[in-house]
Amino acid sequence: VGSHFFKGKKILITAGPTFEPLDPVRFIGNHSSGKMGYALARRAAALGAQVTLVSGPTNLELTHPNIVVKKVTTAQQMLQETLLYYDEMDIAIASAAVADYRPETVSEEKIKKSEENLTISLVKNPDILKTWGERKKKQFLVGFALETTEEMHNAKVKLEKKNLDLIVLNSLKDSGAGFQHDTNKVTLITRTAVAEFSLKSKSEVAADIFDFIESHYIP
Ligand code: C5P
Repeated sequence: VGSHFFKGKKILITAGPTFEPLDPVRFIGNHSSGKMGYALARRAAALGAQVTLVSGPTNLELTHPNIVVKKVTTAQQMLQETLLYYDEMDIAIASAAVADYRPETVSEEKIKKSEENLTISLVKNPDILKTWGERKKKQFLVGFALETTEEMHNAKVKLEKKNLDLIVLNSLKDSGAGFQHDTNKVTLITRTAVAEFSLKSKSEVAADIFDFIESHYIP
């Protein structure tokens, strides 16, 4: 691949869902496939970057000399794992679909069926990307947003609130975009620029994202 810009740069990427256990056999999760994050990791490695990919549970595999894959299960584990590497990173990209809440208690035994209804109390998970934003020094921070209303406005608010440099807005208006699919349609937003892209494969979207980072990089 042409440019030398990413050669030797340290890039942290989160990918996939998180699973939040309820008991030894059950969890709360989501349908994130991890495909976007893994595509980003592959592209970054091809550009010569040193990639640390912190991944929730997925069916994907990735072996590349420039990529270290760390597998985690829960949001808390994902946060702790990323904080081991975050300070030395040049770029950090949060593409994981982190569970916003987890069960307040994890039963040691399988929860038994008894009453008609079962109420589960949930507590808030840490926001990994926001935590990165609060301890940002040199890192170029990239987040994803999936909005259903006032997309552009909400994405810009998120950019500020989480102290990001770039936010990738996933369009929901197009079939084939987002979760589980091999394609995605994105709008890339910084404080000063907006670029809209067509529906593409996730590996092409990953290439667009790194091209955009290169031309909008502020260390
Ligand atoms: O606030 P919202 O969940 O819409 O933000 C989405 C962005 O924040 C994504 O980049 C996602 O990976 C990240 N995020 C995170 N930790 C959370 C929730 C979201 O890193 N607990």
